[in-house]
Amino acid sequence: MATRANLPTSMIPLEQLTQDAPSRIDSAATIAELDAIEAETVGKRSPVNEARRGLGAIEDPAERGATGKAINDIANELADLISAKRVVLEAGAMERLLQADKVDVTLRGRVPQRGTHHIIQQTMDEIVDIFVGLGYQMVEGPEAETDFYNFTALNFHETHPSRLESDTLYLDYGDVDENILLRTHTSPMQARHMEKHEPPVYIVVPGKVFRSDAIDATHLPVFHQIEGLAVDDNITFADLKGTLEEFARQFFGRGTKVKFIPHYFPFTEPSAEMHAYTQGKWIELLGCGMVNPAVFEHVGYDPAALSGFAFGMGAERMAMVRHGITDLRTMIDPDVRTLEQYR
Ligand code: PHE
Repeated sequence: MATRANLPTSMIPLEQLTQDAPSRIDSAATIAELDAIEAETVGKRSPVNEARRGLGAIEDPAERGATGKAINDIANELADLISAKRVVLEAGAMERLLQADKVDVTLRGRVPQRGTHHIIQQTMDEIVDIFVGLGYQMVEGPEAETDFYNFTALNFHETHPSRLESDTLYLDYGDVDENILLRTHTSPMQARHMEKHEPPVYIVVPGKVFRSDAIDATHLPVFHQIEGLAVDDNITFADLKGTLEEFARQFFGRGTKVKFIPHYFPFTEPSAEMHAYTQGKWIELLGCGMVNPAVFEHVGYDPAALSGFAFGMGAERMAMVRHGITDLRTMIDPDVRTLEQYR
């Protein structure tokens, strides 16, 4: 701001003002601060107003006019500086408001908790998928089963201990011809399927099975099995071994070794248990064997023309071996923290 040489002595404070007001205005940090500077410099009690009041005392009209103009020039210049600064401060205040109110679009939204399939379901799905990949078809059967399909058609002797109530859960259907029970294995679907379908048969049957067992680390009264049945013109034990070995390698890893140990099941002859070498030891995985000709006879298949193999495995057991779970009860733990580990 230019210095005015012709100001009278009464205007010295005003002269001073023109020296330091511009930098004070410029460094005002808030609108309140600027308001204060405005009152101090051009307000009612300001040196500007003081100078204006002193104008009447100047007698020479020409001098009075010149002084009045000089005061107005200073007042206008200061007012311009103040209003320019006000615009800047207001814009800043708005900017801060917007900043404070800003929605962070990169913030993750509230996602509802996603569920997942239970470990047993995942295991059954995966096992079924492997066999579907080998050309098998998935079928399902009833959980409430007749004595005939669960036992008789599968060549269980009339006095076989599995038929006892200490092993099998019977349902009370009142006065019916035949005992109705909760199936103790998925094998009844072998007979049911063959009765209704012509060979060749390549099926897998996942499902719940029931036994009269108390709950402990290795027993549950309700568990899951996956049954398999292959019947064709010329099926041999080599087909059984090749199929189940391939399954074990897909499920446990390519390097998995398996071995077959003789066993007994009424509905397969010969029968075996397949063991797999995983995590440093041999573990029993499933039961299997060549379909007993007696079963073919029960369902009306010609035992002289056909052969086949069958197998049955527990889903819980497969999941436990694979995940290194040692207590079967973990499988029915409804605690989300347990379940989340199988995501
Ligand atoms: N059903 C048998 C079990 O529950 C398993 C099995 C199925 C064995 C098919 C041989 C053939 O133990």
